[in-house]
Amino acid sequence: MINRREWLAGAVALPAAQTGAARNIVIASSNGLRPCAKAMDILKAGGDTLDAVIAGVNIQEEDPNDDSVGLGGLPNEEGVVELDASLMHGPTRRAGAVAALRNIKYPSKVAKAIMEQTDHVMLVGDNALRFAKALGFLEENLLTEKSRLAWLVWKSTLRDPKGHSNWSDGLDAPANGDGKPTASAEPPAWLRDRFPHVADDLLAYAWDRAVHPITGTINCLALNTKGEMSGVTTTSGLAWKIPGRVGDSPIVGAGVYVDQEVGAAGSTGRGEENIRVAGAHTIVENMRHGMPPKDAVLDCLKRVSRNYNHDRARLGKFDINFYALRKDGVYAGGSLWNGGISRGKLSPRKFAVNDGGASRLEDCVSLYERR
Ligand code: GLY
Repeated sequence: MINRREWLAGAVALPAAQTGAARNIVIASSNGLRPCAKAMDILKAGGDTLDAVIAGVNIQEEDPNDDSVGLGGLPNEEGVVELDASLMHGPTRRAGAVAALRNIKYPSKVAKAIMEQTDHVMLVGDNALRFAKALGFLEENLLTEKSRLAWLVWKSTLRDPKGHSNWSDGLDAPANGDGKPTASAEPPAWLRDRFPHVADDLLAYAWDRAVHPITGTINCLALNTKGEMSGVTTTSGLAWKIPGRVGDSPIVGAGVYVDQEVGAAGSTGRGEENIRVAGAHTIVENMRHGMPPKDAVLDCLKRVSRNYNHDRARLGKFDINFYALRKDGVYAGGSLWNGGISRGKLSPRKFAVNDGGASRLEDCVSLYERR
């Protein structure tokens, strides 16, 4: 039987293995090398853990070359970028979130403002934009030339049942390829004809994104020497989504969850699967009940797999990754598959870590092997 003081201290929830000294440590998804370094600088200077992870992910949000986050994120099916983010501040146990936000490249900052300057946790869509503008956030077009091209290429691949596309040469145009859909690794000849002035590399990138729509995202989790923890997840979501589609990233308990008595967790990849297992919360609860971070993540991935009766053919159509940081600094990254396919090649799943030196990538533990 536990007494009230033990319960309040969370002592009953913590196995002996979790009593190690806290240290400065930041982990993130694989696009988080620079964000981890930035967050670590802030931790070393004595900054707050939430300020640290937000400053970290802001780097990706403003980077036009990260097409899964913020400026340059791949747009919805109408060519409009819609951003989602959520965060949790361990010391105060507060949370903020924003979904389907347009025209503001820092959804993580908007989520923090919602946490700090409203009595709510989440705002969405046009009203989230109105709120952000009221606070002085700058509106801008988040579509870059690169992401616009990728969107146009994707539109060019859409066909009616007869194979016709309104987004290809007209029926009266000189024959230059049949434009039939194909999932080849390289851009088909008809696409090259359609975009004659686009560089080969750029066209290959756009074709890859059309054939393999991404659910990139960045998640970043931090622990400091005082044992304080915070986490944030920010994304442009699923490329070519239906306008208004909201993934897991802005869902507290799915995209991110923090209980600094136990640890923090977050996710990237196909949000629909994560929402159905409340992944970040599940992982933190697994750690609360004594699972090491690696096992906590693998258990969550097994829940994703179970939702498909472990059918690898269907599971093979998507990727999902989880990250876990325990309050004693032990961490893990885990993925459903050992690697993802990009431009026809398998790239191993990694995650970013910074424990005070240079950021590095470490291998994710994975549930299944893609061949
Ligand atoms: N995990 C990002 C998304 O599915 O929107």
